[in-house]
Amino acid sequence: MELLPLAPNTPHFHAALRLYEAIHGERPASTEPRFRAHADHTGYRGFVALDGQEVVGFTYGHDSKAGRDYHDQLHADMPRSVATEWLTDTFELVELGVAPARRRTGLGTRLVDRLLEGVTRRRVILTTESDNHAAQSFYEQTGWEAVHEPFVVSGVDMTVYGRRLA
Ligand SMILES: CC(C)(COP(=O)(O)OP(=O)(O)OC[C@H]1O[C@@H](n2cnc3c(N)ncnc32)[C@H](O)[C@@H]1OP(=O)(O)O)[C@@H](O)C(=O)NCCC(=O)NCCS
Repeated sequence: MELLPLAPNTPHFHAALRLYEAIHGERPASTEPRFRAHADHTGYRGFVALDGQEVVGFTYGHDSKAGRDYHDQLHADMPRSVATEWLTDTFELVELGVAPARRRTGLGTRLVDRLLEGVTRRRVILTTESDNHAAQSFYEQTGWEAVHEPFVVSGVDMTVYGRRLA
């Protein structure tokens, strides 16, 4: 299994979007522009996992910056001490997905490890739906802790996970 960069100008960008759709059962029109816009954010890093020519996993993230919607909404929602601890000098893991047939083989762990290898921020955070038990088990088994919940986005309860990098 080879891990290669994920970015709009790389060969496997569209395959990663197709995998996103297979995993989530839909791909709103906003998904591709969102992936493209995030790739312009400071600190952007992304990877696809390739089995031969098939994209079987992907992940990306970028620095967390005041002035962006997600950062500011989270900052407003968190108790001050939690925001200070988890939103100062922070990287956001935005997307992570592994093809259903390839799960529980260590690929999610490998993708996250590769993504975070080059990150120089002191904290990393992500948000996942509070009823996504597979993702919650994954994060809790791989060094993350729930740092804030519920973070309600469009009426859906989310859990914010964090991991200390330094
Ligand atoms: C979450 C996800 C990325 C995990 O990927 P993965 O490749 O299966 O993860 P790994 O094989 O590295 O799992 C590492 C450990 O996490 C835990 N884990 C992973 N999936 C789990 C599940 N469904 N149930 C319970 N524990 C799980 C296990 O402890 C596992 O180790 P083990 O298989 O030796 O028991 C994958 O399930 C996925 O793509 N889900 C759909 C998209 C999604 O929810 N993304 C996250 C949203 S932010």
